[in-house]
Amino acid sequence: MNKITFTRPDDMHLHLRDGEQMQAVLLDSARRFARAIVMPNLELPIVTTELALAYSSRISSALVEKTGMEFEPLMTLYLTDNTKCSEIRKAKSSGVVYGVKFYPAGATTYSDTGVTDITKCFHVLEVMEQEKVPLLVHGEINDPRIDIFDKEKIFIDRVLTTIVRNFPNLRIVFEHITTKEAVEFVKGAANNIGATITAHHLLFNRNAIFQGGIRPHYYCLPVLKQEAHRLALIEAAISGDPKFFLGTDSAPHSKNSKESTCGCAGIYTSHAAIELYAEIFEQADSLGKLEGFASFFGADFYGLPRNREHITLIKESWEVPMQFDFAGEALVPLRAGENMVWKILD
Ligand code: NCD
Ligand code: ZN
Repeated sequence: MNKITFTRPDDMHLHLRDGEQMQAVLLDSARRFARAIVMPNLELPIVTTELALAYSSRISSALVEKTGMEFEPLMTLYLTDNTKCSEIRKAKSSGVVYGVKFYPAGATTYSDTGVTDITKCFHVLEVMEQEKVPLLVHGEINDPRIDIFDKEKIFIDRVLTTIVRNFPNLRIVFEHITTKEAVEFVKGAANNIGATITAHHLLFNRNAIFQGGIRPHYYCLPVLKQEAHRLALIEAAISGDPKFFLGTDSAPHSKNSKESTCGCAGIYTSHAAIELYAEIFEQADSLGKLEGFASFFGADFYGLPRNREHITLIKESWEVPMQFDFAGEALVPLRAGENMVWKILD
């Protein structure tokens, strides 16, 4: 196959940052995706509907100024120990907030004000269950005694199952799943539970972080896992099971902050996101399953209309630039200096 045309996809997990950094990366997403669930972990987290509205309009103005393209940011709130039930109701009635993100405190980038103990938020989860506001979960336990490669698995046992038991009708997106245990959990759960899968967790196992030396540009959270887990993720992605859908978790950090004694977690993939997924699905002999995963299942889960426009990818090699401008700094994308096999037609 040398050309594929399918419904324009949505990115159900994206870090757009803010200000000039956001302006630097926005076009990459807008070229490929119709909509994206925009993560709220800014330096000052988006903890209220008012902040979400303001952030949304900053994105929309940047779109008009910088890209002239149509792209709908689907906003989220950042859950804290102090989130109020009234804020959830406000978020729901605003019509611009599509989910509430649960970061265990300290689990990842800008998560210091995250949740210290989810039982403190149970009254809020009750309202979310009633109002049908999805809970978007960063599924890693924040216990320093737990090995980093086991944090997702233990989170399922200790936290996620407790949430599901107490709130069986709460809509939950288990974000950027990385393990076969997560795949099994989601498959066995009710239909109100879905999961996003990133391109990088489908492409690489944890050896990538240590290939001939330490490779900070392959460091993200949840961290890459062993090969058996990667294979389980591929199987889930190509299965046609609507519980699994596309979320890039594209997370730009400047080159300096990645290549540092304490480098930031996050991999930038927005510049080639749908092309990377096409490559993965083709290698798994499942290109025909890409449209469901990328363009239908996420929208269906969030109760959004499916997109009507289409995009076309052609089989044409192109080289990913070594770096992009990132508000005066450099941004090193995935595959920097290497070739892509699929190319998007504008
Ligand atoms: C994300 C970021 O940089 O905001 N980093 C990452 O490694 N994925 C945060 C997150 O989603 O964990
Ligand atoms: Zn993320």
